Amino acid sequence: GVGPWDECFEVAVQLALRAGQIIRKALTEEKRVSTKTSAADLVTETDHRVEDLIVSELQKRFPSHRFIAEEATASGAKCVLTHSPTWIIDPIDGTCNFVHRFPTVAVSIGFAVHQELEFGVIHHCTEERLYTGRRGQGAFCNGQRLRVSRETDLSKALVLTEIGPKRDPDTLKVFLSNMERLLHAKAHGVRVIGSSTLALCYLASGAADAYYQFGLHCWDLAAATVIIREAGGTVIDTSGGPLDLMSCRVVAAGTREMAALIAQALQTINYGRDDEK
Ligand code: IPD
Repeated sequence: GVGPWDECFEVAVQLALRAGQIIRKALTEEKRVSTKTSAADLVTETDHRVEDLIVSELQKRFPSHRFIAEEATASGAKCVLTHSPTWIIDPIDGTCNFVHRFPTVAVSIGFAVHQELEFGVIHHCTEERLYTGRRGQGAFCNGQRLRVSRETDLSKALVLTEIGPKRDPDTLKVFLSNMERLLHAKAHGVRVIGSSTLALCYLASGAADAYYQFGLHCWDLAAATVIIREAGGTVIDTSGGPLDLMSCRVVAAGTREMAALIAQALQTINYGRDDEK
């Protein structure tokens, strides 16, 4: 049957594909790079161009909808999730990869209604893989059903994380000590690929057993959360409690057991909240 948000989903897929073409072309060209919250928090003209394209097209089609988008937020727009239909957009996730031509770059478009995530679309632009998840309808990559790993034992886990933008000595100490704790627990490995959304898509695919991070944002999490849940996985707060999209931190895993083990091992890095900036 036709669901209420089918048209929105189809438009999101088309825009994620169009954005991917722009990003792929721009990847090999000269870039003007600026910094945002830290020397490691980068933005390019292409981030702005892709965000403007996605938001303006969606605004034309769905004039009553609201938007939370990475670059608009960086320019001072407030990040609040109301009950209205809301698009949550990261035009280029993995901007640092994009700048260095490291081929792990994505477009992420999430959609929430009544503060509940309805669908997520993530386009791995460099490998042309389209990840989608819709509430109650499963998660797919290029049409193939996704399923998470069922691993519950941390000593058999491949764990993914991202560094986050803060690089002061105290933050780095906690970041490295968290990684050390997982390695002491004999995790098989820890990987940092430079894109939160794609790391979360690998988790959804069963290619890794867990993911955790401090310092990501709601636009890194929104689309990926639907995809992971629809692939059978768990997405929670680093405290072990329920996910808070605005809390700038997350643990995701194939199983609840694995998510709980990771959450227990972690010391907190405080990045504040997206809705208090
Ligand atoms: C960032 C990347 C990075 C992660 C940050 C994200 P951006 O997204 O995913 O790997 O460490 O937390 O915000 O700035 O490239 O869209």
